[in-house]
Formats: sequence, structure tokens, C-alpha cells
Amino acid sequence: MIANDQHKFQAIISHAKEYGFVFQSSEIYDGLSAVYDYGPWGSELKKNLREAWWNEMTRMHDNIVGIDAAIFMHPTTWKASGHVDNFSDPMIDNKDSKKRYRVDHLIEGVADQLVQDGKTEEAEQLIASMEALLAANDFAGLNELVESRKMKCGVSGTCNWTDVRQFNLMFSTQIGSVAEESTEIYLRPETAQGIFVNFLNVQKTARLKIPFGIAQIGKAFRNEIVARQFIFRMREFEQMEMQFFIRPGTQKEWYEYWKAERMKWHTEMGIPAEDYRFHDHIKLAHYADAAVDIEYNFPIGWKEVEGIHSRTDFDLKSHQEFSGKKLQYFDNEINQNYVPYVIETSIGLDRMFLLTLCHAYQEEKWLKEDGSEDSRIVLKIPAKIAPIKLAILPLLKKEGLPEIAREIMKECRNEFYCFYEEKDTIGKRYRRMDALGTPFCITIDHQTKEDKMVTIRYRDTMKQERIPIEGLVAFVKSKM
Ligand code: GAP
Repeated sequence: MIANDQHKFQAIISHAKEYGFVFQSSEIYDGLSAVYDYGPWGSELKKNLREAWWNEMTRMHDNIVGIDAAIFMHPTTWKASGHVDNFSDPMIDNKDSKKRYRVDHLIEGVADQLVQDGKTEEAEQLIASMEALLAANDFAGLNELVESRKMKCGVSGTCNWTDVRQFNLMFSTQIGSVAEESTEIYLRPETAQGIFVNFLNVQKTARLKIPFGIAQIGKAFRNEIVARQFIFRMREFEQMEMQFFIRPGTQKEWYEYWKAERMKWHTEMGIPAEDYRFHDHIKLAHYADAAVDIEYNFPIGWKEVEGIHSRTDFDLKSHQEFSGKKLQYFDNEINQNYVPYVIETSIGLDRMFLLTLCHAYQEEKWLKEDGSEDSRIVLKIPAKIAPIKLAILPLLKKEGLPEIAREIMKECRNEFYCFYEEKDTIGKRYRRMDALGTPFCITIDHQTKEDKMVTIRYRDTMKQERIPIEGLVAFVKSKM
């Protein structure tokens, strides 16, 4: 049994490593904090999530196209976007351990502990006070809050804090081969700016009329100070962002439209609606006039997975100003030139991955017919995004069964990801496929030679039935 949700979270992290989903980066050198690598089944699952989002955005919307912009951008981009001046978080250092914390994470950690101790109301009050102080940029107030509650550093165990100060989260590097001629550039902290600077290139070449969207998937980098909670908060991560360009004055209706659309996508992925909620931002980013998070009920509490932001015309106007190039659209329906307003949807691919694992991970126990206990760990990943769709398992390694299995494999592998396995007992092979989240296993036995049928076993119910080999592809596809 899972004792509590922290244990469940730890169990998921161990499972992710043991079954080849996620590894700590450079593990042989003791790892790099808040950087992770995806293993064979993790990268497959991640690819399926990426594709699900991309297809939804580009294929299912006539007026959205995709791009793939570079990670490096002209340094002025980040001046114009406001990231050089504003992309910072209030931090606090513990003078004894020299460890630096984002002050909101430090306070949230205390609130999480209060919830675990059953003091939910007190936790809510604490978060409300923190949000009010953050919204007012009241650093002295934040210091007071940390000190009045005697918050301790996890390393030194002391309450010996510095003042709260702002630190920029962007990573920088040098471009150019000669030291004297090199320029400092940033690793992008969001993919959105690659869309803004290409706004007119895309609008013109794809012949788009407002309203229209530009979608992009790619890496983003942030020097997160508090690196914890596995792949929830990483220094290198992947974003799936879409900027939707609209006529000024229509932002409220499009904001509501995208809130509904994005929530629909989440629930259509096979994750129950009751595990999601909206959370309005109190403190708005420098570019937004409205913002909401889609939060998921993780084992570590309700946390943000996706943000929907009404970004006004801030970014395009600012790039226009800094570059001296017009970034305007002529709307022939109203005969007007204007800088479009933007609604952004921005989801972290790694967080969506973590959400999928948290939803899917289950420890099951039951009594067998002889009264003894049996158990399994199963990932109930929705079939359409499961890394392996079909495991093909000959009952024995001989007597012509592998040959039939290989034939089936040949037919199915063009259609979806299949996995062939002939080692171990069939029971062990089923358990392994459960742990990898494979929704269907088929077993080829002696009877198959007679009747051209196989036994299909369903991951979620463990039920088995005989089905004909002919039509297997269509059968699995229909379940996906
Ligand atoms: N362009 C807007 C933007 O970047 P954000 O709320 O800072 O907004 C959007 O980030 C999404 O990116 C978040 O909802 C989250 O899913 C993901 N994200 C942000 N920081 C992350 C981090 N350090 N590690 C993993 N995912 C992150």
C-alpha cells in the first residue's frame, strides 16, 4: 500500500528510473541538479505527448501553423521582451548554508508541510499572505513573513536569512570565435519570442488572416534556483507554446475560448476532469493583462501544468520599437492597420509527462483463487500515448511460435510501436509490460497454428480473450 502521497511521488521517480523512462543527467558523475535525460520508453512517451499537442494545434485548427525557431536569438530580443529587466525572482539566501531559495518556494514548502500536518486553513492563509506580498513587490514584508514563522533552511536548519533580492533566471553564453569580438547571448527562457520575431514572416508566407496562431515546440532554459521535485522544475526543459494573434479589443472572448479549448484537450487525453482546475494569477507577468494556470492534482499537491496568458500587444510593440521594423497587420475587414493582440497557451512538455506518469502509476493487490496474495505495479497510460502499444509474446522460444510472432510483428510495426519478447515466463512478461504501460499483449501458442487466433490480454483489466490474427491491426487501432 502507498503510505502517503510523498511516498507515491518517490515511488514514481524510482519506477521512472528502473523502467527506462527518466534518468538523472550525467549520473555517473553524480548527476547535474535539475537536469534529466529521457530513456527508451520515456523518450517514446514524450514523443507521443509532443505529437498529440502538435496535431491538436496545427492539424485540428485551420488557422494555426507551426514553426521551429532557433534557441539562440539576437540579444536585443530579450531586452525588448522585458526578460533582461524583469525575468527575475525574489530570492533569499541562508547565511549559514549559503543556499539560495526562491522565496515563494521556501514559503510554499512550509505551506505543504502544514497541509501534511492537517493544518490546511493555516496553509491557505500563509499562501494568501505570500501572494499579496508578491503582488505588491513588498520584499520587506516577505522577509518579515519568513522571519515571523521562523522558516528554516533545509541544509543548515537555521533561520539566519539575508534580505529578499531579485535574481535573473536567464543563462548566458558567448557567441563568436575571438574573445574580443564575442557577444553575450542568452539561452531562450521561453520559446514564445521566436514566434513574435517571425510574426510577419509567417503571416505573409502562410497567407494567414487574423485571427491566426503560430505554434512551436522546443527547449527553454532557466537557472531555477531551487531545483527539486524531479522533472517538475528543471533548468533545461521543453515548452509547447502557441501565440494566437487577434484584433485588439477581442482579447477577453479569445482568452475564454482558449481556456476552454485547452481544458478540453487535457480531459480528452484520458485524464479525469476532477484532477484539473483553473487558478487565476494575482501577480501578473510584465506582459499580461490576464493569466490563468491549468493545475493538476499531483501527489505533491495542485501544481501548474499550463499557462494561458492574455499578452496584449506588449511583445510585438516592443520588438517594433527596439528593431525599428513595423510589426503590423492590415485588417481589410475593418480597413485598419494595427499591432495585433495575443493570447498565449504555454504548456511544459516535461510537466505533462510527469502528470501522465502520476495519473498512470498504480500499485494493485488482490487475492488469487487459492487465497494467496498477488500484486503488480501498472502504468495505466492512455493507449493513444502509451510508449509501446502492443507486446508480441510467443509462449515458447521454439516449435514455430517465434516465427509466427515475427510475422505478426512485421505486419504491425508499420502501424504502431510493437515490442517482441520471448524471454521469461509469460506471467513475468505480462508484469513487465504492465510496468511499461503497454495496453495490449498478444500471446502466440500452439493453438494459434491451428486456428490463426491469438490471446489478447488487456493491461487495465488483465482480462484475456481469443481474437483472429487477421484484423489485429485494425483491432488495436480501434482501441487507441
Ligand atoms: N511563454 C510563457 C511562459 O513561459 P511560464 O508560466 O513561465 O510561461 C509555461 O511557463 C510553462 O512551462 C509552465 O506552465 C510549465 O509547464 C513549464 N515550465 C516553466 N518553467 C519550467 C521549469 N523550470 N521546468 C519545467 N517546466 C517548466
